[in-house]
Amino acid sequence: MNIIEVFQVDKLFNGRPILKDVSFSIEEGSINGLLGPNGAGKTTMIRLLNGVIEATNGNMKVMNYDPKTQGDEIRRKSGIVTESAALYHDMSAWDNLVFFSKIYNAYDPKRITHLLEQFEMG
Ligand SMILES: Nc1ncnc2c1ncn2[C@@H]1O[C@H](COP(=O)(O)OP(=O)(O)OP(=O)(O)O)[C@@H](O)[C@H]1O
Ligand SMILES: [Mg+2]
Repeated sequence: MNIIEVFQVDKLFNGRPILKDVSFSIEEGSINGLLGPNGAGKTTMIRLLNGVIEATNGNMKVMNYDPKTQGDEIRRKSGIVTESAALYHDMSAWDNLVFFSKIYNAYDPKRITHLLEQFEMG
């Protein structure tokens, strides 16, 4: 089964073509890399797949959801580790975990303590 399908996708920013006629599919359970020079459109493709932005043309399916209309579902079931740490530097490790776990409706102080200890940050 394909976990991701991208078919003839174009993305224009202010009329400027960034992605042009992109098609590919990713098999469930496989490990893949998306390679390209700076500005090639890698982050743009990830944002399209997550439904953060919309393709100008073409179709996409992620876990059988359409990022255009079901981005919430995709974001609920997938994760992204960005190149820079997405933490608030004016908050402690504890407060960061409290904040983000509440956003994800998964606040559990025992789990936070456990994770901090597991990663030797207790
Ligand atoms: N919101 C936006 N509005 C206008 N242009 C944008 C926008 N986002 C990205 N771009 C442009 O689209 C192109 C692709 O950018 P993108 O960030 O997807 O590249 P990338 O492959 O992730 O690059 P890098 O390797 O530097 O992370 C760049 O020319 C960038 O300036
Ligand atoms: Mg990028």
